[in-house]
Amino acid sequence: MDFTHRFIPAAASQAGHVLLLLHGTGGDESDLLPLGRELDPDAALLSPRGKVLENGRPRFFRRLAEGVFDEADVVRRANELADFVGTAAARYEFDPRRVTVVGYSNGANIAAAVLLLRAEALTRAILFRAMVPLVPAQPPDLAHARILISSGAHDPIVPVENAERLAATLREAGANVTLRFEAAGHPLAPGDIAAAKGWLHDRGGGSAFAKAPA
Ligand code: MLT
Repeated sequence: MDFTHRFIPAAASQAGHVLLLLHGTGGDESDLLPLGRELDPDAALLSPRGKVLENGRPRFFRRLAEGVFDEADVVRRANELADFVGTAAARYEFDPRRVTVVGYSNGANIAAAVLLLRAEALTRAILFRAMVPLVPAQPPDLAHARILISSGAHDPIVPVENAERLAATLREAGANVTLRFEAAGHPLAPGDIAAAKGWLHDRGGGSAFAKAPA
């Protein structure tokens, strides 16, 4: 297992759902465990630490500046992460098709990259404050994928237009995408969590064509 990670098994009676938790820049494998528990008290939690260090702060891929990504590294790291999901599924005996990835910021961006580059690896995704990580050389087939993008209407790091472009790219690939905007900046707000819970448990979570609030 080539990622430092935490794995917390589900209660024995549960149906085998797994949340793959991907932290933001400067986080680690413990960061999103409380969020994962809140989103689904019954799921197993798998939480790797990003392997790239930026001034000592873990990330999932290299960047050249804020919002300017090293695309070759994005490709390499997305493949490593997709392989890790397969290896972890074999080791911890879960079905990779029962995994929902939950990523925040840099973690959401690497999750989006895995969706675009290794479409078979993930079926469900909650992307908090995600942006377009790269333009894939081949258009992916994401007809099997269900994705929630929860963006900040006033996020100084992720422009509304960028989140909309990510949603459009994933929809063009066939994914069922819900894009919503929280009246917030880059940090998560309670409304993000509520929407993610609703979406995860299939109780709504916003219109697929929600627009940014004025
Ligand atoms: C971050 O600070 O992590 C950025 O907003 C997203 C990224 O660099 O991937």
